[in-house]
Amino acid sequence: MAEFLELPNETVFTMETTPLKFGPGATGEVGYDLKRLGVRRPLLITDRGLIRTGLADRVCRVLREADLAADLYDDVHVEPTDASWEAIAEYVRGRDYDGFVAVGGGSAIDSAKAANLFTTYPAPLTDYLNKPIGQGLPVPGPLKPLVAIPTTAGTGSETTAVAVLDVLSLHVKTGISHRYLRPSLAIVDPLNTVSLPPMATAYPGFDVLTHALESFTSRPYDARPRHRPDERPVYVGRNPVSDLWCEKALEYLGRSLRRAVLNGYDMAARTDLALAATYAGIGFGNAGVHVPHALAYPIAGQVREFVPPDYPPEAPLIPHGLSVISTAAATFRWTFPTSPERHVRAAQLLGANVSALTDAEVEDVLPNTLLSLMRDTGIPNGLSALGFGDADVDSLVEGALKQQRLLVCSPRDVDGAQLQAIVCASMRHWT
Ligand SMILES: [Fe+2]
Repeated sequence: MAEFLELPNETVFTMETTPLKFGPGATGEVGYDLKRLGVRRPLLITDRGLIRTGLADRVCRVLREADLAADLYDDVHVEPTDASWEAIAEYVRGRDYDGFVAVGGGSAIDSAKAANLFTTYPAPLTDYLNKPIGQGLPVPGPLKPLVAIPTTAGTGSETTAVAVLDVLSLHVKTGISHRYLRPSLAIVDPLNTVSLPPMATAYPGFDVLTHALESFTSRPYDARPRHRPDERPVYVGRNPVSDLWCEKALEYLGRSLRRAVLNGYDMAARTDLALAATYAGIGFGNAGVHVPHALAYPIAGQVREFVPPDYPPEAPLIPHGLSVISTAAATFRWTFPTSPERHVRAAQLLGANVSALTDAEVEDVLPNTLLSLMRDTGIPNGLSALGFGDADVDSLVEGALKQQRLLVCSPRDVDGAQLQAIVCASMRHWT
């Protein structure tokens, strides 16, 4: 590299993604696609909720009709842990699967990525986990085919090279990032999301929104240090190609998030949300996310009593999309000076009228646009409504500071004091 160019800053960005099959009814083609990928004996990985909806059964039937001898693993942990990953890897070991199908949200798809990795290249978990929690060793080679069929319009895991988990003994959320983790094919079928109730639509929708916004405002690739090709991270920072995906995702969310929450059977809105999730996944899967996602990990991890509407009532839970959107308005008020035009453009794409704004209004137009979307779709009023108070600020900041892989993508240098200010400003959004 040095013989070509000697600059301290990065000059190269990358853009990789999963091949995509999109459209109503696309799920019915999974048998064809597995065979095309050379798979004869797949394991279908899903969770019990999707057994109840009947979708997992329908996929099993499609596989049988394609003469594929598929087994079913339905014990995916919602918000996977090191223990749940070990359990699924243990199940897979000794059986001769030659490929995987993941049906579900990010938990099912990430668990399938992990099962594929730990049974293809067995190693202690910490070998592959991101630094500083693990050693961040690269995945040694290509994995077996994995077809991902998302059932929420949210995480974008079907397009990304990342798998996320809770490490129970360390009380920390982290993950594995490597290009070989990317599924071989994403089958995105808006019909799989029509039965989601309103808040199981809204929370993942806000996850998509923050993916697009954080990537669109992240530190540009050429404002980061130069990397050797083998050490270049999956998240390289915003770049002209990631911007395209993020802008389109914001436009679709702006016109369809409220509609899909109001009426789950609005197929045009469901299609927009499914496309937005995929687009944002491609955008952030290369550019990266920053402060709201770094704070989301301890927010979700330190839940005490909050039980979200439209989710199983058995256990307290702050869904990922709710945890990320809770600090987004304060974050984008803080990042505004790094790229005022991007913040205004994002607000415009989300539906705001940005003509004839005063200087004071310009600074607040993106946060105010977010707050309007949040109020209209039933998002709780700040961290205090999720059960957090002043006594929790330090531990939330401490948890976010462990997410250095994400914080390096922040367009402003960030330390504990800034995170503390963002958390305090996010306690209550409106009066
Ligand atoms: Fe996310």
